[in-house]
Amino acid sequence: MTTITLHPDFRVGAVDRRVFGSFVEHLGRCVYTGVYEPGHETADEHGFRRDVADLTKELGVTMLRYPGGNFVSNYTWEDAVGPVEQRKPFLDLAWRTVEPNLVGTDEFLQYCEREGIEPMMAVNLGTRGIDAAIGLLEYCNGEAGTKWADMRIANGRVEPYGVKLWCLGNEMDGPWQIGHKDAHEYGKLAAATGRAMRQVDPSIELVACGSSSMMMDTFGEWERTVLSYCYDVVDHISMHAYYEEMDGDRDSFLASGTAMSTFIERVAASADAIGAQKRSDKRISISFDEWNVWYLFSRFVGETNLPVQKDAPRIIEDVYSALDAVVVGDMIISLLSHADRVAVGCLAQLVNVIAPIMTEPDGPAWRQTTFHPFATAARLAQGDALQVKVDSATMPTKKHGDVPTVTAAATVDPETGALALFVTNRTAEEQVVTLRTPGAEARIDGGSAVLADHVGPREGQEAAESYGMVDALPVAHEDGAITLRLAPESWTAFHGTMRG
Ligand code: AHR
Repeated sequence: MTTITLHPDFRVGAVDRRVFGSFVEHLGRCVYTGVYEPGHETADEHGFRRDVADLTKELGVTMLRYPGGNFVSNYTWEDAVGPVEQRKPFLDLAWRTVEPNLVGTDEFLQYCEREGIEPMMAVNLGTRGIDAAIGLLEYCNGEAGTKWADMRIANGRVEPYGVKLWCLGNEMDGPWQIGHKDAHEYGKLAAATGRAMRQVDPSIELVACGSSSMMMDTFGEWERTVLSYCYDVVDHISMHAYYEEMDGDRDSFLASGTAMSTFIERVAASADAIGAQKRSDKRISISFDEWNVWYLFSRFVGETNLPVQKDAPRIIEDVYSALDAVVVGDMIISLLSHADRVAVGCLAQLVNVIAPIMTEPDGPAWRQTTFHPFATAARLAQGDALQVKVDSATMPTKKHGDVPTVTAAATVDPETGALALFVTNRTAEEQVVTLRTPGAEARIDGGSAVLADHVGPREGQEAAESYGMVDALPVAHEDGAITLRLAPESWTAFHGTMRG
């Protein structure tokens, strides 16, 4: 028997809505024939696809990171502003693709503005440095009267964009990164760049690169060294994690959310250790600015094996299964459970590239399986995350040791009392759960679930759209106790109310 206990006074913290962010990189077909396709029947006057924008809205994306990813580490932003007909293509070495520079900073930021999405920009600390970073920041946020701000105005945009969130490079610990650096080189550069950027605009939030994954040999030491240089300058440290089912090890894959939580707790501990050493009252939070299921080792050929291509090639267009959707839901549980620490999250990426939304050039756009748990959680997770006590059995996994069979996160809106409870059942059997809410009146009014139904990747629009949320198993309220039932290998979002 599994028990979940919630208490209205025991809260983790307010859910930062930026945790429901995503990511648009100049990679494959994320930008071209993804968000942007002039000539498409739904394209707006700016060339952006309305069908994709509508799905993005339905997905509930609050924030978009741009322009990379690995791409940013060899990007010259100045080449992609100003009159489009004067822009020159360049060979992006990260993805070995000719980038036409038709979409650049202005197009992206104005798209975000029109769609009511907060942008998160990244600066190139691979091939470039402080100068390019402060120039770009001034271009985006500066008032009239200085070189780069005036260039923005000359390019037709008078009002500063007021971009708040800035990544100091991308995955600089990765040997694959163009301009890869060791932790000392990067830490010094991040601190110096961050300091200079704050002189341009003191109101920005800065993200230092953490590790590209917990499996990096430098993990831990990287965070320690980098933050020893830039702890006082930055607000967040980044985390990236991609999970996949390997060698048929379904149980380890289903436990990805637990691996993600371990990763978060280790990064937080590394950051706090530096804070303690510095006797600092400041707490560094986490920007989990790339997370998802990605069949990186089992399906991707690797960046260096890609041929040089142009015209928005199909790169990393993973097709997702129902099981992948359950794991994405479980990862959202991990993010919400750490609401006191995780300020930003980006489901990587938004369209076509390991994405919840797929498109065909000149054709339709549709939802992949992973769309559903994200959209549901983004809609329901409002207010504060609660501390959730789950008493469940454990199951052994090859990769992550013993993990709980059931995981859960809950949010309550302090204004309305709206309660959301997200629960994963990692086992192949139905689970019965007693929900206890001492000190509060609670009701569960219903729910919906995604099920890992043993059907493989849902290739193409028709197969993908045959999959969606189904009704949760019936909920019973009896003698003050609530009994929930969880379908085998499922992720369920319950909604109701809780008042203390
Ligand atoms: O999201 C795809 C790639 O994964 C990004 O470009 C990079 O940052 C990460 O390795």
